Amino acid sequence: MSQPKRYTITAALPYANGPLHIGHMAGVYVPSDIYARYLRSKGHDVAFIGGSDEHGIPITIRAKNEGVTPQDIVDRYHTNIENTLKNFGVTFDIYSRTTSTKHAEVAQDFFLKLYNNGKFTEEVSEQYYDEEAKEFLADRYIRGECPTCGNTDAYGDQCEKCGSTLSPEELINPRSALSGNTPIRKETKNWYLPLDQYEGFLKQWILEDHKHDWKSNVYGQVKSWLDDGLKARAMTRDLNWGVPVPVEGAEGKVMYVWFDAPIGYISFTQEWAEKTGKNWKDYWQNPETKLVHFIGKDNIVFHCIIFPTMMKAHGDYIMPDNVPANEFLNLEDDKISTSRNWAVWAHEYLEEFPDQQDTLRYVLTANLPENKDNNFTWKDFQTKNNSELVGILGNFINRVMVLSHKYYNGVVPAATEKYNEVAQIKEFALRIGQHIEKYEFRAALTEYMNLARLGNQFLQAQEPWKKTDSPEEVKNIMYAATQIAAALGQMGEPFIPFASAKILAMMNSDKMDWNSIENADEFIAAAHQLGESSLIFAKIEDEAIAAQMKKLNDSKVQNNMTNPDAVAQKELVSFDDFQKMDIRIGTILEAKKVEKADKLFELSVDTGIDVRTIVSGIAEHFTLEEIVGKQAMVLANLAPRKIRGIESHGMLLFADKADGKLTFVKPEEETPNGVQVG
Ligand code: 2FM
Ligand code: ZN
Repeated sequence: MSQPKRYTITAALPYANGPLHIGHMAGVYVPSDIYARYLRSKGHDVAFIGGSDEHGIPITIRAKNEGVTPQDIVDRYHTNIENTLKNFGVTFDIYSRTTSTKHAEVAQDFFLKLYNNGKFTEEVSEQYYDEEAKEFLADRYIRGECPTCGNTDAYGDQCEKCGSTLSPEELINPRSALSGNTPIRKETKNWYLPLDQYEGFLKQWILEDHKHDWKSNVYGQVKSWLDDGLKARAMTRDLNWGVPVPVEGAEGKVMYVWFDAPIGYISFTQEWAEKTGKNWKDYWQNPETKLVHFIGKDNIVFHCIIFPTMMKAHGDYIMPDNVPANEFLNLEDDKISTSRNWAVWAHEYLEEFPDQQDTLRYVLTANLPENKDNNFTWKDFQTKNNSELVGILGNFINRVMVLSHKYYNGVVPAATEKYNEVAQIKEFALRIGQHIEKYEFRAALTEYMNLARLGNQFLQAQEPWKKTDSPEEVKNIMYAATQIAAALGQMGEPFIPFASAKILAMMNSDKMDWNSIENADEFIAAAHQLGESSLIFAKIEDEAIAAQMKKLNDSKVQNNMTNPDAVAQKELVSFDDFQKMDIRIGTILEAKKVEKADKLFELSVDTGIDVRTIVSGIAEHFTLEEIVGKQAMVLANLAPRKIRGIESHGMLLFADKADGKLTFVKPEEETPNGVQVG
C-alpha cells in the first residue's frame, strides 16, 4: 500500500449569477468529486474545497438589470448552487463564498504582501469612463463593434459571436453598458502583475517539469500562451463591487475578480481549518502536499499562469501538481448557452428526476469531455440508464439477491471451490484506482461497468437455475456471484454514491476502504445474512425524454423570436374573414366613467359615418383627460353588445403590452375620421 499523502483538491468557483448546468457538472464537479471520494477511501488526507465566486461585472450587470443589489443576486444563487451540489452528492469539505469577511481579509493580506515586496508595477493609463454614471468602464461594462466580425454587441473583454479576446480600446464605436452613452477617456492608476517577468519560471515548471504528466489540451494551451509572450496584467479595477484594494491611493478600487477568486480556495481552506482544528498551511505551503485544480478549459490561463504567478510572487505557496482541465460538453450537438437557455439546469434535473442523481453522474462521467468536446443527448441518457444501469448493473444485483433469497433465505452460502472470477475482482479495483489517479474518469467508469458485465456473463454462463441436482455447485456459483455484487456496491462509491450505498444496505454490508478493496479475497463472508431487495435504478420512460426534448425545443422557438414576450400567433383566418372587418379611424369626442364599474368608460366616438357610443374597458389605463380628443382605431362593425346596461356599438383597438399596459394605436398624422384601415 502506498503511503498516505495530503491532497488539496479545488473545484472552480462558479459565479453566483445563475444556476449550474450539466456543463459545469461534467467539466468540474463530477470528476473532482470522484477524485476526492476515491482519495479519501484510499486513506489520504483530503481537503476538497469549493465555493461561490461572488464578484465580477456580470453579477453587477445582472443586479442592475433586475433593479436589486449585487448582494441580493449572489445570496440567491449561492444558496441555489450550494444546494444543487449537495443534492448531487458532491462531498466538499467546505463550500463557502467570496463575499465573506474572512475572504476579504485573506485576499487583502495576499495583495499587501505582494505590494509591500514590490511585486506589482503601477501604471497610469487612460480608461473609458462614463461621465453620467461616474464610473470607469472595465471589461463587460463596455460594448461596441467587434473589429474581427463586426458584431455590434461585443464586450470590452470578448466577442461572444466570434470568440475573440478583446480589450476595450479595440471596440469600434464603444458605448457604456450603464447608460448607453459614448464614454470619454480618463486617466486612472492601477496595479499590474508583470507576468512577463515570470515567463522563465512558468516555462520551466510547466513546459519542462510537467511535459509528460499534464493533459495535452492543458499543456498545449499554456505553451501557446507562453510562446506568444506574456504581458503585465492589471490586478485592480475601478469598480465598487469586489474586495477593496488595501493600499493608499487605491480608494474606490477593488481587486480584479480573477485576483481574488482563486485566493478563495485559500481563504475557504482557512475557514475550514479553523472549524476542524487543522493547520491550513499544511494544505497550501507544504511541498509534500499535492494541489490539484479541477476546472473547465476557459479557466486554464488563470489557473496555470496568473494564479501560479501570484503564488510564486508571494513566495510561500506550493504550485499545483496538476490542472486536469476538461473541454466543453455540448447539448444535443449545440453549444450550451445560458442566454439562449440551451442547457439542462442541474437544479431542474433534480426536481424532474428526483432520486436519479446517480443516473446523471453516470451519464456525465461516461461522456466526460476529457480530451475533446463531448456531447450530451437525452436519447443517450435514456439508453445508458435503461441498458447499462438498469439492464446490466441493477439487473445483476437483483438476480443475485433474488436467487440468494430463493435458494438460501438470503444467507451467503459457503464455497468449496472458488471461481477465477472472484480472484479477478481486486484487479478491477486496482485498475479503476490507477485510472482515477491519472484523471481518466471515463476509463475508470468503463472498468467498473466491466465488472458488472463480468457478473452477468458469469451467471448467464453458469446457469445455476438449471443445476438443481448439484447443490454444491450452485453454492459455489452463488458465493462467487455474491462476491461480485458486494464488490460492485463497494467500488461504485466514487461514481454512483447513492446507488452504492443502496446496494451495500441491501446486502447488509459495511463500507470498505479502497485499500481493503484492492486487497480483498472476499467481499462478503459465508453465512452472512443479506437484507431485502429494493429498486436501485428506475427505468426512464420515453415520455420523460420527450418532455425534456420539448423543453429544449421551446427554447429554440423562443430564441428565434425577436421579442421573447410576444404571445403566440392566433389561429389562421381566411382573407374573406379579414375583409369582413370594418376597421376605421375615429376620434373620441367625450368620455365619462361608467358607474360602479372601475374598468369601464362610456365614450362618444366620431367614426366618420356617425357619432356613436362605445363602452371600453380602459379606465385603469388612462384618465378621462388623456383620451378625449385622441384618435384611435375602431372596429366599427362589431355586433352591438349591452355592457352594464349601456349599448356599445363597436370597439376601440389598443396595443396590449407584455407588462399589461395598453397603448393607443393611432395614425401617425391627423387622419380624417372614417378612413378605413386594411
Ligand atoms: O469561470 C468561472 O466560472 C469562474 N467563476 C471560475 C473561478 S475559479 C477560481 F479561480 F476561483
Ligand atoms: Zn467578433
